[in-house]
Amino acid sequence: MKRTSRLFTALFTCFALVGAAVAALAASPVFPVDREFYPYYPSLIKWNKSSVPFNAPEVCSGCHEKQYKEWNGSVHSLAFKDPVYQGELNKGVKAVGHEISRQCEGCHTPIGVVTGEIKGPGLAGLSAIALAGVSCDVCHSISGVTHQQTPARVAENGSFIMSPGVESTEGQILIKRGPIPSHDECGGGFHKCEESPLHLQANLCASCHQVYHYDDHFPIEATHNEWIAGPYAQKAIMCQDCHMVDIPTFKRSADQFVKPDRKEYKHYFSGANYLLTYLAAGAAKITGDEELAKSLMAQYEMAVERLKSAADLELSPIYHNGKLDELKVRVKNIRAGHNLPTSLTNVRQMWLEITLKDEAGKVVMSSGTLNADGSISEVARNFASDGMGKDFHFAVNPWEVVGFSKHDTIPPRGYRDTYYGLHFPADLKNVTIEAKLRFRQADQKVAEALLAAVPKDINLEQMYGLKAVPPLPVVDMVVKEATVETSK
Ligand code: HEC
Ligand code: HEC
Ligand code: HEC
Ligand code: HEC
Ligand code: HEC
Repeated sequence: MKRTSRLFTALFTCFALVGAAVAALAASPVFPVDREFYPYYPSLIKWNKSSVPFNAPEVCSGCHEKQYKEWNGSVHSLAFKDPVYQGELNKGVKAVGHEISRQCEGCHTPIGVVTGEIKGPGLAGLSAIALAGVSCDVCHSISGVTHQQTPARVAENGSFIMSPGVESTEGQILIKRGPIPSHDECGGGFHKCEESPLHLQANLCASCHQVYHYDDHFPIEATHNEWIAGPYAQKAIMCQDCHMVDIPTFKRSADQFVKPDRKEYKHYFSGANYLLTYLAAGAAKITGDEELAKSLMAQYEMAVERLKSAADLELSPIYHNGKLDELKVRVKNIRAGHNLPTSLTNVRQMWLEITLKDEAGKVVMSSGTLNADGSISEVARNFASDGMGKDFHFAVNPWEVVGFSKHDTIPPRGYRDTYYGLHFPADLKNVTIEAKLRFRQADQKVAEALLAAVPKDINLEQMYGLKAVPPLPVVDMVVKEATVETSK
């Protein structure tokens, strides 16, 4: 009896091993996945599991009011509630199944994933900590990263480890990590502190700011890779030095490669997303939260100002045989620490619009103006990417994009030139050239499709006061004008 059961065990082990080998063979040899090491795959977050709880930002705000007020209204505070995100998530789950939602949520609300609270798209019935997105306890529980162990062997899809505290004989001890050397009063009796060099490094941000295809590991968003390949990384100007400070300090970091003073850091995480912060400000006004609406509008203004200080334009008229017939427009990335634009480059749009006017101000030629339906002109130079799917055809959804057929973003401190053939009536002595570098979060139709896909418990009219998606606002990042002679 005993022998047969042992035989069975042996046989079973054998089958299990063969099974495991087959599974390993089925996995990509280029991007091997260790599912035991990454239990939340396709998210690569890890949690040092214990009974020590995570706490909602409102708990931290009791002692850290300044950081709370700065963070509340940031895109990080909206990362999970973001209706554009919820729309895309909902589409993704319908298209390829529920598993993909862990990948998304591992970055958009990691605590909601490890506590098992998030069951799918939507907001109904969730706790404050799950709704809080990229909250205090996400970043300040991070105890390390696993960038070298990921399938792509670089930071991707949330490759960080969260350890909110330890269980000890005296009970649960919360540990929060940050830039301050630990001292006796640190944590006010609520938590212990641990000085963490990682929190002063771009590596902290890298885990989430490298979005790879959930199973094919193509870098759809590669902000950290772009930064690492540029001059800011070489001069140790980190993400924090531009995104955790106010606008004048960011400009100083970018222009002079000077690190901010410790007391200059703020929890704004201000980026380029003026659309989301504007929508959220509208929602806050509807609920009567004037203070939040104010901080969201401040975030909106910072995003617009950051975009307006990121680039520069140079216009060079070109003469052949003494006649003006060509224009070179140079777009320079002067202050983005990564490519311009970055992140969702197959969705964001940054394009050139050129107008030529005669002496009376009448438009005689234009290029790159928006079409009547709000789409971008076919001939416009759009400094963005085109995604492609497995069939090498155009694709836009993140679960389909496994390559870029075009990737035309501008590296940090780099530039791109565009040449325009000029046409204007022969009798003009002078023409005025206007060049605009324009930006918006997405194509009109793409935004409409995502917002139309929000889960049922997000009512855009009730929550955001949106009856229909209005034309997406465009920010003119740089406008340059020059009046030039038509012959020389
Ligand atoms: C590795 C972390 C990570 C993963 C995984 C991830 N995202 Fe994101 N997501 C981000 C970051 C960072 C941004 C901000 C990029 C930017 O501002 O351009 C973002 C932005 C977005 C946006 C744009 C939001 C807006 O308001 O413009 C959408 C939509 C989105 N993600 C959907 C998804 C979906 C759906 C998935 C899963 C299929 C997913 N994300 C997976 C990190 C992640
Ligand atoms: C995206 C990650 C992230 C989030 C979210 C975040 N922090 Fe921080 N926090 C940091 C980093 C990075 C630093 C170090 C900044 C520096 O160099 O001084 C920091 C510093 C701090 C410090 C040290 C003092 C200081 O301000 O420099 C405190 C306290 C703090 N954070 C509390 C909070 C609270 C409270 C929240 C939520 C309301 C929060 N943090 C959200 C990343 C984060
Ligand atoms: C009872 C008050 C209290 C609460 C509640 C509290 N903290 Fe703190 N925390 C402190 C004090 C005091 C310090 C030390 C500040 C200093 O030295 O400038 C501190 C320091 C920190 C630091 C810096 C650690 C370091 O070594 O750099 C971080 C990060 C932090 N807290 C995060 C949090 C987070 C996240 C929460 C919510 C989960 C939180 N705190 C809740 C009182 C508190
Ligand atoms: C846990 C994952 C996570 C970490 C860690 C993280 N981020 Fe983010 N971050 C996100 C997500 C997700 C979004 C986009 C949310 C959205 O658009 O819905 C975002 C958005 C942002 C934005 C706003 C982008 C915009 O379009 O305006 C900035 C700026 C930013 N992060 C900077 C940082 C910096 C700096 C760090 C490191 C100190 C950091 N992030 C760490 C997940 C993370
Ligand atoms: C030298 C300053 C500087 C540094 C360093 C820097 N950024 Fe930025 N970042 C900018 C500027 C300027 C913009 C606005 C233009 C743009 O979208 O690229 C921006 C935009 C962004 C956006 C918004 C993209 C969008 O389309 O919504 C994200 C996300 C972001 N940065 C993340 C990061 C991360 C993560 C790092 C570190 C790996 C980093 N940044 C380092 C200056 C910087």
